[in-house]
Parts: sequence; structure tokens; C-alpha cells
Amino acid sequence: MPTPGRLRMNKRIKEVRNITRDIDGWLLEKEGMLLYRLANRCKGRGVIVEIGSWKGRSTVWIASGSRDGRNIQVYAIDPHTGSEEHVEAMGKIWTFEEFKRNILDAGVEDIVKPIVKTSEEAVKGFKEPVEFIFIDGAHDYDSAKLDTELWMPQTATTSTTR
Ligand SMILES: C[S@@+](CC[C@H](N)C(=O)[O-])C[C@H]1O[C@@H](n2cnc3c(N)ncnc32)[C@H](O)[C@@H]1O
Repeated sequence: MPTPGRLRMNKRIKEVRNITRDIDGWLLEKEGMLLYRLANRCKGRGVIVEIGSWKGRSTVWIASGSRDGRNIQVYAIDPHTGSEEHVEAMGKIWTFEEFKRNILDAGVEDIVKPIVKTSEEAVKGFKEPVEFIFIDGAHDYDSAKLDTELWMPQTATTSTTR
């Protein structure tokens, strides 16, 4: 028999699934659900950081999990100009307006702080400890390695899905 807490969480996950279905992106629902649960379990030892937001699909999953948990600030880092493969496939890219709209529509704008920079630029001035980081920026090996090396020293607890 599921507990009332578990039933509440399942209901919320269904709601977030309906919201994120309409947000363009590649994140799978089961990945989103994992992000929700990980963000939901954060204790407040540090903030939450996302590298690579695109139009906010993963951001909404993470921010919703945090909102339903300890309401920990989510820093969403992305230059919003796409990765190399996006530019090659789609030409010039600017995703920030759609990102902001999606965050607003999902009702998580007060918990999400966008940083419109690359992860390399953003880490320089970043002073807060990080409890949970989701790295989904440029997917080539060197970039993913660099993001990991730059950000891991900031973390108290880490989780990765890719
Ligand atoms: C695969 S998409 C992210 C998808 C997103 N997590 C979602 O759920 O839809 C990769 C994103 O990484 C961003 N990006 C590329 N290089 C980056 C860098 N050096 N730092 C931060 N973000 C970067 C791109 O602008 C792009 O929006």
C-alpha cells in the first residue's frame, strides 16, 4: 500500500510530465523523473546546478523536484546559443526567450536562476557550494570532461545521468 507521501509524489510527477511534454528537448521522461527525485531529496547542503538547459525541459523537472522538497535554488547555466551539433543542424540559435517562457509557464521562475554563460565562464564567479549538479552541456568527450573537472570541486554531493 503506497504511503500518502508516495501518492502525492506520484501525482506531482504526473503533473510535471504533462508540463514537460510540451517543452522541446531530448530528455526522456524516465530521466526527468530521476532528476525530479534527486532534486527532491536534496538536503540544502548546497545549491543545485544544471549545465545545459536548452529550452528548460530538464530545468522544469529539477526545479519541480526541488520545489516539492526543500525549495533549493536551481542555477541553470547555458549560453543559449546551442552546442556545435545544434548550430550545424539548425543554424544560428537563441533559446533563452523560449526557456524563460517555459520556466514561467511551469511556475518555477522564483526558484530558477538562469546564468546565460558557458559553464567555463560561470564557474569563475561561482561561490556557493553545490549539492547536486546535472551536466548536460556540450556532449563531446572533451567538453563533458572539462565541465566535470571544473564543477566537481564545487560539489558536496554529486549525481550524473549520462
Ligand atoms: C542537449 S542540450 C540540453 C538539453 C536540456 N538539458 C533538456 O533537457 O532539454 C545541450 C545544451 O548545452 C548548451 N551548451 C553548450 N555548450 C555549453 C557550455 N560550454 N556550457 C553550458 N552550456 C552549454 C547548449 O546551448 C544546449 O542548450
